[in-house]
Amino acid sequence: MTMTGNGNIYLIGFSGTGKTLSGIKAAERLQLPFVDMDEIIQYRTRKPIHQIFEEDGEDVFRKMETDLLKEIANKGNRVVSTGGGVPTVAENRKLMQESGVIILLTANPATIHQRISTRSNRSQTLRPLIGDNAPVEKVAELLQNRAEAYSCASESIDTEGLSHDEVGQAIERIWKQHSINQTS
Ligand code: S3P
Repeated sequence: MTMTGNGNIYLIGFSGTGKTLSGIKAAERLQLPFVDMDEIIQYRTRKPIHQIFEEDGEDVFRKMETDLLKEIANKGNRVVSTGGGVPTVAENRKLMQESGVIILLTANPATIHQRISTRSNRSQTLRPLIGDNAPVEKVAELLQNRAEAYSCASESIDTEGLSHDEVGQAIERIWKQHSINQTS
């Protein structure tokens, strides 16, 4: 795999941990392009994600994610907001580990539940696996199931009580440290 410069910053984590909004802030600070995998897939298929799940099935969606990740991994120097399920596929974890730094964003189940349910329009379009009516127990259970997949990250940021800008700053710090380590 060819990697440009420092590779990518991959933001992973459950829905509602702020990968997109904090990623935009980090990209502004670092003056790097920002990439949102869900947005690209929706743009290219001309379908909201829930429709891809309904018409084509989850496996097809997961294949789209892996194909897109291969493209992104070959570019580098981007802030990438991944879909919450991306790290559940071993090939995706390997692609990310080999082409950049993986940062896990975390939050408590109750916070995630609250964030997801107060943005129900986005949830309905983007999150067929969770929807906007899932009880907090369901969020906690999914988080538990994903713990191992998410442990592919070398860094993590607890987003509890932080603004998107503060999380963006934390991402910036990690990236700068990573860049120093790469060159020394
Ligand atoms: C998913 C999370 C969603 C989206 C899809 C599947 C998941 O992205 O990719 O609904 O499996 O957790 P967000 O993490 O941006 O909500």
